[in-house]
Amino acid sequence: MGGFTVASSPSPSASEDESDDGTDSDDADEDNGASSPSDNEMLLDFLDNNSTKAQEPSKPTAHNYNSYSHPKLIQVGSLQFRPRKPINLAITAGLIITTKNIWLEGKVAIITGGASGIGASAVHIFHEQGAKVVIADIQDELGQAIANKLGKDVCYIHCDVSNEDDVTNLVDTTITKHGKIDIMYNNAGVLDRPFGSILDTTKADLDRCVGVNLGGAFLGAKHAARVMVPQCKGVILFTASACTSIAGLSTHSYAASKYAILGLAKSLASELGQYGIRVNCVSPYAVLTGMNSKGLHEDVVAAAEVRATKMGNLQGQVLKPEGIARAALYLASDESNFVSGLNLVVDGGFSVVNPTMLKALKIVP
Ligand SMILES: NC(=O)c1ccc[n+]([C@@H]2O[C@H](COP(=O)([O-])OP(=O)(O)OC[C@H]3O[C@@H](n4cnc5c(N)ncnc54)[C@H](O)[C@@H]3O)[C@@H](O)[C@H]2O)c1
Repeated sequence: MGGFTVASSPSPSASEDESDDGTDSDDADEDNGASSPSDNEMLLDFLDNNSTKAQEPSKPTAHNYNSYSHPKLIQVGSLQFRPRKPINLAITAGLIITTKNIWLEGKVAIITGGASGIGASAVHIFHEQGAKVVIADIQDELGQAIANKLGKDVCYIHCDVSNEDDVTNLVDTTITKHGKIDIMYNNAGVLDRPFGSILDTTKADLDRCVGVNLGGAFLGAKHAARVMVPQCKGVILFTASACTSIAGLSTHSYAASKYAILGLAKSLASELGQYGIRVNCVSPYAVLTGMNSKGLHEDVVAAAEVRATKMGNLQGQVLKPEGIARAALYLASDESNFVSGLNLVVDGGFSVVNPTMLKALKIVP
């Protein structure tokens, strides 16, 4: 969630707030002072009829590469505003000015499978980012405990996503409580078993994966669309899996259900775009959660995380549920306001690398 700093370019949200063209003439003057305009700059100026000044991104040095953050919502007493440039925390005239990133301010989000793992992490992050969150799950105690901990903006509703009456009730209760749904994050899912040959796979395994993973995604999307189409906006999001990008990561039943979710997402994106509704998938690589490590000692979980990292491509950091939840946050927020039909694979490049070739060429040990 970030990028390198663009010297004085306005924030995406700031530009929404502005009635002008989103540039700051003072800033443009400052930035222009030192160097003469390049051919590209002159061409851009010409194309823009001098109304906007193209800004050269500053060089991605180690410092500014890491320091970009979304312009922050500033709270001064009861006043809130978003500055056009990030400002530092300060104490002025006895007032404490605090800064806080807010990506989902005023949004209402349903998160299925929100009682555990990736879903629970998304509940915390979406709530922290200003959303009112409805947790939908079948693990009532866990879901209710998270809602109790986070307070009035988070509630829990029992919902078996494979049951249409439950999903209807989930959506209707959310509308009664909040009046709208901005984000429907269909994340609940099950594994039939860790791995297995097609010869050992039963029809019941397939039915369970398809019933919860695909059936739940379908029903969640259908009932969300029922309220989002009249709203003429909304985000429908699914947790699919990196097994939509590379084979051999899971059972056939699971892979089939997750591929189907991706197909559903693309199909929905094509129908619902006309109503301003975006539809996307986030697809995780292996993450240790309730799904694959329930009841295991934390040392065993930590060792499994190390193994998953070693098996993967990107080294130096371990994929945690928060890593997926932050990708979901991007897709749920207005930061991705022209992104639809995307499968955002969060796998550290695992599915695009052929490790056998690198080893054969002795490029890696
Ligand atoms: N953990 C991974 O390695 C991994 C990898 C790729 C994709 N995923 C996907 O991520 C999503 C979240 O899984 P997780 O890893 O956080 O596992 P998890 O088991 O911690 O969370 C899944 C949640 O879904 C809930 N759930 C299961 N069946 C349900 C139903 N019928 N109705 C409502 N809720 C139900 C569970 O109670 C649980 O709270 C799933 O869709 C999973 O397939 C996980």
